[in-house]
Amino acid sequence: MADLFTTIDERGSIRAYTEEALTEEEIKVLVEAGLKAPTARNEQELHFSVIDTKNPIIKELQNDLNPNAATTFYYNAPLFISISGQDAFGWSAVDAGIAVENIHLAAKGLGLGSVIIGCVKGVLTGEKKAYYDEKMGVPADYSYQIAIAVGHPNTTKEPHVFNAEKDVTYIA
Ligand SMILES: Cc1cc2nc3c(=O)[nH]c(=O)nc-3n(C[C@H](O)[C@H](O)[C@H](O)COP(=O)(O)O)c2cc1C
Repeated sequence: MADLFTTIDERGSIRAYTEEALTEEEIKVLVEAGLKAPTARNEQELHFSVIDTKNPIIKELQNDLNPNAATTFYYNAPLFISISGQDAFGWSAVDAGIAVENIHLAAKGLGLGSVIIGCVKGVLTGEKKAYYDEKMGVPADYSYQIAIAVGHPNTTKEPHVFNAEKDVTYIA
């Protein structure tokens, strides 16, 4: 398992996967990485829907998003984890973002690949919200915040270029 800084340096969003399924142990590590993430006031108000992408709900979601897309929204990764948060709690979006990054880094640490998935938000929070919530086991008064697709990478991704001069201010 790579050390933390190597994992941070080398992670990237992976958009092609082999057909190899994840093991139960790998899925457990990924889910627990999400559960171990910090939440505001230690509220732990997130819910994790851990979905085998062979489940018909994924095909339905693809159809509602775009039945003619060149690639699927989950890039044919074997696992899709959708994170929802409690509507009444003002930090759910931030907490879900932290949890999804924990899963993204844990996947890299396991030698897997992943990509955070925001493009499903419109469908999962739109007119079919109640339907998808029921199918995905989302608790009442919770809403989708973010998701992640995970699998065995079938491609590599160079780290993105960043501009510290533009994006950082140091104050002495
Ligand atoms: C909130 C959020 C939503 C994202 N949604 C998607 C998405 O729906 N589909 C996708 O292919 N990538 C998505 N990404 C991945 C970004 O496109 C990616 O992180 C960015 O291009 C930088 O590339 P890197 O992660 O390889 O450094 C998302 C990332 C974040 C943080």
